[in-house]
Amino acid sequence: MGRARAIAGLLLAGFAACARVPGQEVPDVRTPLVVVNEMLRLAGVSAADVGYDLGSGDGRILIAAARDRGARGVGYEIDPALVAESTDRARRLGLADRVSFLQQDLFEADLRPATVVTLYLSPDLNRKLRPKLLSELRPGSRIVSHSFDMGDWAPARTLQVSSNEGSHTLYLWIMPATR
Ligand SMILES: C[S@@+](CC[C@H](N)C(=O)[O-])C[C@H]1O[C@@H](n2cnc3c(N)ncnc32)[C@H](O)[C@@H]1O
Repeated sequence: MGRARAIAGLLLAGFAACARVPGQEVPDVRTPLVVVNEMLRLAGVSAADVGYDLGSGDGRILIAAARDRGARGVGYEIDPALVAESTDRARRLGLADRVSFLQQDLFEADLRPATVVTLYLSPDLNRKLRPKLLSELRPGSRIVSHSFDMGDWAPARTLQVSSNEGSHTLYLWIMPATR
């Protein structure tokens, strides 16, 4: 019982620590690298792509997309320390000309240049983002979300992936020509 309370307390503290924009609570956790690779594979990311990671954390998704697949990308992240960490890592890996990280609310992003959008947010934020994705992304653009769906917008594919942290569900949507 004591252990369960302690775990619940830690989880609540994690959510509280990440409630950086009022009403937009997102846990401060990272996508395990093995799952990052599966997200990029599910979206079919290549050197022709421009990836946008909305809530880019430590930048791992876009850095892997640039390093392993030659893609370009832009990350939107509200935590300045994470933006600095991502930017520094990209520079040290010689990827600064391919990926950049902006300290900005993801709802302010202009998504029109994106061909792939990656998300690991929350059920609520995904649903709030849906109209923006549908109005700004071009036909054929792909969206991959780690763990969270888009309500009644059925994904084109789902994939179950295991990591040493457990099992992860990935969702893929492809922007239709008409909305
Ligand atoms: C669960 S983490 C995912 C990080 C990374 N995309 C990954 O998969 O490892 C979500 C990130 O979104 C950021 N975030 C939450 N709300 C945001 C907002 N409104 N605008 C920009 N970033 C936001 C948080 O600071 C956090 O770093």
